[in-house]
Amino acid sequence: MSSLLSEDENHALVNEVIRKLTLGPETMSKIVKIAHANYKKGLRKADNADACIKMLPTFVSGLPNGKEAGTFLALDLGGTNFRVLLIQIPANAGPNGKKECNIDSRIYRVPKNIMEGHARGLFDHIAECIHNFVNIMGYEEKANSGEPIPLGFTFSFPCRQDSLDSAVLLRWTKGFNCEGAEGQDVGQMLSEAMARRQDLQALKIVAICNDTVGTQMSCAFDNANCKIGLIMGTGSNACYTEKTKNIEMLDEEVRSATDNMVINTEWGNFGSDGALDFLVTEFDKEVDQNTHNKGRQIFEKLIAGMYLGEIVRLIMRRMFTNGLLFHNERVPKLFDSFSIDTSFLSMVEDCEEDDIVTIQNIIAMTLDVGALRNDCEIVHQVCKAVSTRSAKLCACAISALAFKIADIGIEDSVPGEQMKITCGVDGSVFRKHPSFATQLKQNTADLLRDSNMAVQYTLSHDGSGKGAALTVAVASRESM
Ligand code: GLC
Repeated sequence: MSSLLSEDENHALVNEVIRKLTLGPETMSKIVKIAHANYKKGLRKADNADACIKMLPTFVSGLPNGKEAGTFLALDLGGTNFRVLLIQIPANAGPNGKKECNIDSRIYRVPKNIMEGHARGLFDHIAECIHNFVNIMGYEEKANSGEPIPLGFTFSFPCRQDSLDSAVLLRWTKGFNCEGAEGQDVGQMLSEAMARRQDLQALKIVAICNDTVGTQMSCAFDNANCKIGLIMGTGSNACYTEKTKNIEMLDEEVRSATDNMVINTEWGNFGSDGALDFLVTEFDKEVDQNTHNKGRQIFEKLIAGMYLGEIVRLIMRRMFTNGLLFHNERVPKLFDSFSIDTSFLSMVEDCEEDDIVTIQNIIAMTLDVGALRNDCEIVHQVCKAVSTRSAKLCACAISALAFKIADIGIEDSVPGEQMKITCGVDGSVFRKHPSFATQLKQNTADLLRDSNMAVQYTLSHDGSGKGAALTVAVASRESM
């Protein structure tokens, strides 16, 4: 296919696409304000039903104080993999002054037919994996003995909780579409699946928590100032510590019983009411159309790892059909939904823009097409624009959370001094993309420059595993 456009028109199209993806400081401040208003809306009883950011109470009211100890089983379901973990938190710190948890785990795949099958099949599969792991670890007898083994379940989907050990799934996200689970209590479904077999009788679900909560817990174990948990991976979401008296959705009894509670914002659904339409491009709209949960999780579809490659694919496809990329070639992969993932952006952006040979190789490997210099330059620009927008939007949502936290006032903040908020973070985009983390930090600092706040990002280690165990440990500590 030869170019259908003149060279000037080519440039104009590339520039136009990049311009649409670029967020200037004014737009970013506007997004911070909208997000801040949305957080407040979600906490209000009268508005919660209409709020797209649901601000879900988690019933996690204490953070680790470093004194937790014991042996716990944890489960982690949040994507195509399911993990079972055995975590030992020692009573004493090691020579470096830190407690090193001993974690053994095994990953099990969740086959597509189970992900898209019936809930009963999913939970039977989970119980079967637990049984397999318990056997491998030599815990077979204990798992069926009289003495209860506490279990923490990291279930990374939006859930309405009215206690720590029950969680009603509101709706699936991230491509899950398992029938008969929405509106049901995940804790109960798992307990029933375990009860259907005779070999896991000792396992007792103590806590069900979101991965953001696990991440905050795991970070707070080492750093008491950790007020936010953030996931930037396949999906994106954040939680933070709120004053219980501000959570109008809670019963009066609960509100008066504890001072603080972690709120799972479920910010992935931000913008589903049209509030972000001014920045949503035609490519984002098409991504949304290709998903199971159309019209939902709009913010997540702009920023999270599951979708970044798909946005880039759709932009490249548009440029290809306009004769602007990969002239005279056939590129079937560009027409295949979700055929490109975030690792493509990471690899391309890891190269200098003029490192044409490496970019050519990456494009050849991923798209099976020979790219020219001009193709490589355009692809590099597109990837960069998409990941930069993601980092900027994430920085906006985090800065808005910092303002929400400032509304509460932090007990340990000193008037006149800068308020430092630690944010524990995990997820493949934050960990693996070459410039995402730096951009997130830089943009957050820019957005908060005129405030007296600063957010410090700390990589959280195995929030979903260790975090679930810590949630159980803190709950046991508090009930004693
Ligand atoms: C999705 C889920 C949310 C989770 C996030 C990160 O947004 O709805 O619960 O925390 O992905 O895994």
